[in-house]
Amino acid sequence: MALNPFSRPTKLMSFSSILLLLAMLMPLAKAQSPRETTIVLYLQDLASGPNATVVPITGIQGKPQSFTSFGTIFAVDDIITETPDKVSAQIGRAQGILVASSLSGSNVHVSMSLAFTNVEYNGSSLEIQGISRQFERYKEVSVVSGTGSFRYARGYATLETVFYDNKTSYSIIRCTVRLLPNIQ
Ligand SMILES: *[C@@H]1O[C@H](CO)[C@@H](O)[C@H](O)[C@H]1NC(C)=O
Ligand SMILES: *[C@@H]1O[C@H](CO)[C@@H](O)[C@H](O)[C@H]1NC(C)=O
Ligand SMILES: *[C@@H]1O[C@H](CO)[C@@H](O)[C@H](O)[C@H]1NC(C)=O
Repeated sequence: MALNPFSRPTKLMSFSSILLLLAMLMPLAKAQSPRETTIVLYLQDLASGPNATVVPITGIQGKPQSFTSFGTIFAVDDIITETPDKVSAQIGRAQGILVASSLSGSNVHVSMSLAFTNVEYNGSSLEIQGISRQFERYKEVSVVSGTGSFRYARGYATLETVFYDNKTSYSIIRCTVRLLPNIQ
């Protein structure tokens, strides 16, 4: 006997397609969680010349000073801009230290404040810290705290080099900050 199209098997199918739909929607919902705030900014990073914004300040005696030479410490004061364009609106500065922190030369420890000067967050700062796996495309570091609008900030930031000029050691780094709510 042929099954009635409105009988149980059809219902089962629609139930399983609902499950499938839910399974498909769930990662989407997670990625677009309204509970997260995303801030995208760009670091203008110059590692050579008299106007360098990242400069080695010390290292192990007798060893070269570089990002791959264990023990090298850099001071950083990068301009933060709104878009990758270096003449776009300046919204703050990324100030702190970087340490070539792995004997193998692959990792850098980042400890930096993003100090905002734009109208929206003027005087507020975000503290980012962590291991930067410098040969990977996306480096992920923690947002450990903040001040002003960002008090009690929690989250993470990804760093991606979107431009690099080998001649002048000029990099533009996209920093995408993701924060949990209750900080603004
Ligand atoms: C360094 O910055 C100063 C002031 O902005 C500028 O006049 C000078 O041309 C810059 N030097 C180089 C090598 O870019
Ligand atoms: C940010 O705050 C400083 C100090 O209060 C002030 O001088 C400056 O004009 C402010 N900038 C903006 C863009 O509001
Ligand atoms: C950068 O340029 C130098 C020469 O100025 C060259 O020796 C080096 O291989 C280049 N590095 C990259 C990553 O292109």
